[in-house]
Amino acid sequence: MGFSRNHLIRPTIQHMQGYVPGEQPQDKRYIKLNSNENPYPASPRVLEALQRAIGEDLRLYPDPVANRLRDKAAEVYSLKREQILVGNGSDDLLTMLMRTCVDPGDHVAYPVPTYSLYDELVTMQGGQIIHVPYPDDFSLPPALAEVEAKLTLLCHPNAPSGTMPSLKQVEELARRVRGILVIDEAYIDFADETALPLIHSYPHIVILRTFSKSFSLAGMRVGLAFGHPEFIKELLKVKDSYNVNRLSIIAATAALEDYHWMQQNVAKIKATRLRLTKALHEFGYVVYDSHTNFVLARKAGINQKPMYLGLKDQGVLVRYFSLPNLTDCLRITVGSDDEVDTLLKSMRTLSRLA
Ligand SMILES: Cc1ncc(COP(=O)(O)O)c(C=O)c1O
Repeated sequence: MGFSRNHLIRPTIQHMQGYVPGEQPQDKRYIKLNSNENPYPASPRVLEALQRAIGEDLRLYPDPVANRLRDKAAEVYSLKREQILVGNGSDDLLTMLMRTCVDPGDHVAYPVPTYSLYDELVTMQGGQIIHVPYPDDFSLPPALAEVEAKLTLLCHPNAPSGTMPSLKQVEELARRVRGILVIDEAYIDFADETALPLIHSYPHIVILRTFSKSFSLAGMRVGLAFGHPEFIKELLKVKDSYNVNRLSIIAATAALEDYHWMQQNVAKIKATRLRLTKALHEFGYVVYDSHTNFVLARKAGINQKPMYLGLKDQGVLVRYFSLPNLTDCLRITVGSDDEVDTLLKSMRTLSRLA
């Protein structure tokens, strides 16, 4: 049997942030600071809306284009329905973007290290990956604009560094890039400045958002793409028919109706982020300036695998990357204050043992 290029692709499950082979959090009571989930629950209005929706209507297919959610998002983000597409998480939207833009051999460029799923999706599509390395300070590499790729991806703010360039630099990139520029704003609610206004001047920009992080709805799988109506029409052509289920549409709509709840949770997470950053400095880590709900902490030249394994042993999962230039780093999700206290206590114990 010829499985053609599938041997090049690692199972996408391995790219899920926080996947621990053979040891999932349900096996043991872990404090999960490895997947950038929100430690606080979604708005009570989301839960009420879901409870109301669980009934006979579940026998019916959902609206294939989720217009109710598109209209609410249009109101919240000052856009038109036609500029918005709803996905089964933003991963689904990334898949649609690849299907639309990438033919075998086409170049897809992005600065690295970044969100690891990009590599798998480009490979699945037969595209050619162009990695443009970030410099040590994670500033935007100017070479990104010179690659002339069919599709350029910018994770904004970036994962796993948590850093982001200024809006001026992103606009400069948009001005110079050929092809489509995807700006993945999965974590943007934890930052101060979005690139969203750029879509009005640059029709080749697509912005991606998710309900998995700031809105505390990772389990519901909902993402949004914002872009030019003509491009959104192209993405619609490759969308699975009923890609977002009835309950997810209802949950995300209710979450947008209680936007203030999300903002309150974000404010709490930002305060904890500052506290965690200061504590990590005291442990001797350099912490990159985070605009997200996680921090990347580096101890130059000291492999962090023992710390990662020690924490795991104590029931705290953080993220370790066995990638060049990242082995001396840990990526830690900003959990609740209690979770962060437990993490710091375990780190203190482990540092004493080291
Ligand atoms: C940068 C980035 N983009 C997209 C996603 C996927 O988000 P979703 O849960 O909406 O598929 C993630 C998830 O961790 C992410 O880190």
